[in-house]
Amino acid sequence: MADRIRASEVTMATQQSSKPNYGVDAPGVLRNLFLVGGGALLLSFFVPHTVHLGAVVDFRSSLRWTGGWFVFSSALFLLYVKYGKFQHRDFMLSLYNWRGNEQVLDVGCGRGLLLAGAAKHLTTGHATGLDIWSNVDMGGNSEAATLHNLQLEGVSQRCSLVSEDAQQMPFPDDSFDVVVSNLCLHNIYDRSARLRALHQIVRVLKPGGIALISDYKLTGEYAAEFTDAGLIVQRRWGSILTTFPPLRVVIARKPV
Ligand SMILES: C[S@@+](CC[C@H](N)C(=O)[O-])C[C@H]1O[C@@H](n2cnc3c(N)ncnc32)[C@H](O)[C@@H]1O
Repeated sequence: MADRIRASEVTMATQQSSKPNYGVDAPGVLRNLFLVGGGALLLSFFVPHTVHLGAVVDFRSSLRWTGGWFVFSSALFLLYVKYGKFQHRDFMLSLYNWRGNEQVLDVGCGRGLLLAGAAKHLTTGHATGLDIWSNVDMGGNSEAATLHNLQLEGVSQRCSLVSEDAQQMPFPDDSFDVVVSNLCLHNIYDRSARLRALHQIVRVLKPGGIALISDYKLTGEYAAEFTDAGLIVQRRWGSILTTFPPLRVVIARKPV
C-alpha cells in the first residue's frame, strides 16, 4: 500500500512539471497578507473619511496605508518566492569553499532548493535532505516532489532524503562536513524542542565542519546556542532587496 502511494505521488509530481519547482514558502501567510491587504483597500472605498474615537481619526487613509502595506508585503514575499530564494541559496552556498567530497546535510530541505544547489558543488560527496514534509511551511511539499526536482536538476545520484524531525536526526555523531538550513528552525515553536534541533546540528557536524543556518528570526538564539556549544560563530545578512522577510545567516564552525 505504502509503495502504491509513493508510486502515485511520484507520478503526480512528474506530471506536474518538467522544470524544477521549489514551491511557495508558507503559502497561507502569503495568501493572508494579500487578502487582508486587498480587503482593507477595498473597504476603504466604502467607509466614512473620518470617525470620532475620542479624537477625529482619518479612517479611510489609515485603512489605505494599512492595506497598502499588506499588499506591498505580499508582493515582496512573492518576489522572494519566485526570484530571491535562488539568489539567497547562491549567497549561502558561496559562504563555504567547496572541495567536492563533502558530506552535506540540509535540515528542512523542503522541495530541495539548497539540497540540489549544494549537490551541484559535489563530485564524490553526498547531500542528504531531512524533512517532515509540512504543507503549511511549504506548498506541495512531499518527498516525491523533492525527488522529482532532484532528478530534473540531474543530482539525484548524489542525494538522498530522510523523513525525520530535526529534533531526532538518525545520523551518527560527526557525520557531516556542511550542514545547511533555510527557514526551517523557526517552525519549531517550542524553545526546548528548537534547542534540541540545534544540538542535533552540533552533534552531527564533523570537527572542522561548518553550519550555515538561515532564518528570518531567532538567529540570535541559534548563534548563542552554537557559541555555548563551543562553535565559532558569525552572522551575515542576506540581501534586503531580495529576501522578505529579510534573512540572516548564522555561520558556525566546529573547532577541530
Ligand atoms: C519554509 S520551508 C523551507 C524549505 C527549504 N529549506 C527552502 O528554503 O526552500 C520549511 C521546511 O522546514 C520543514 N520543517 C519544519 N519543521 C521541521 C522539523 N521539525 N524537522 C524537519 N523539517 C521541518 C518543513 O516541512 C518545510 O519543508
